Amino acid sequence: MTFFITVLFISLYYVVGQNVDHPRFEYLGSSISDNFEEWRYYASSFPGIWCSAIQDCIDTFGPAGHLVSIETEEEALWINEWLERRGSGGATYWTSGIYVNINSDWMWASGFGKYVNFTAWNSGEPVSLPNNHHRIVLVHRNQFTSGWSAKYDSEIFRYICEVRVRK
Ligand SMILES: *[C@@H]1O[C@H](CO)[C@@H](O)[C@H](O)[C@H]1NC(C)=O
Repeated sequence: MTFFITVLFISLYYVVGQNVDHPRFEYLGSSISDNFEEWRYYASSFPGIWCSAIQDCIDTFGPAGHLVSIETEEEALWINEWLERRGSGGATYWTSGIYVNINSDWMWASGFGKYVNFTAWNSGEPVSLPNNHHRIVLVHRNQFTSGWSAKYDSEIFRYICEVRVRK
């Protein structure tokens, strides 16, 4: 059964790979980085623990799929607006932000070793003594009000995948 479901999803990936729609996810929008690639964003309509979220972005969208990294203010503003507009607002979503003990700093797990430089923490966040199990969630209230919190990776939230599409 699992095999057939896997085959189905792999087939769907190739059939609709260039289409924006995707089963199980809400398409949010895309940002064009240059003439050759664009990044498409998808919100899951179901929740999971952090490590199943990061895996599901890869399983669903292939190697070009990542759990979202919110690296600039512009990207944060787009995501806020899209969530509102697509009816996926008012929820909390996992990002790929992780706390790394050995560096004593926050990093983007999907960002190839990039530090979290742009931040949008909610007041009182992050926790004062984070550890390796803390992750960054985006708490979306509405288009104008959202911010990040630190949560344990074993908690259950929806998530946002970003998918790099070569044109
Ligand atoms: C990002 O943050 C890291 C560590 O906090 C720092 O070493 C690095 O210089 C920063 N990068 C930029 C572009 O500000």
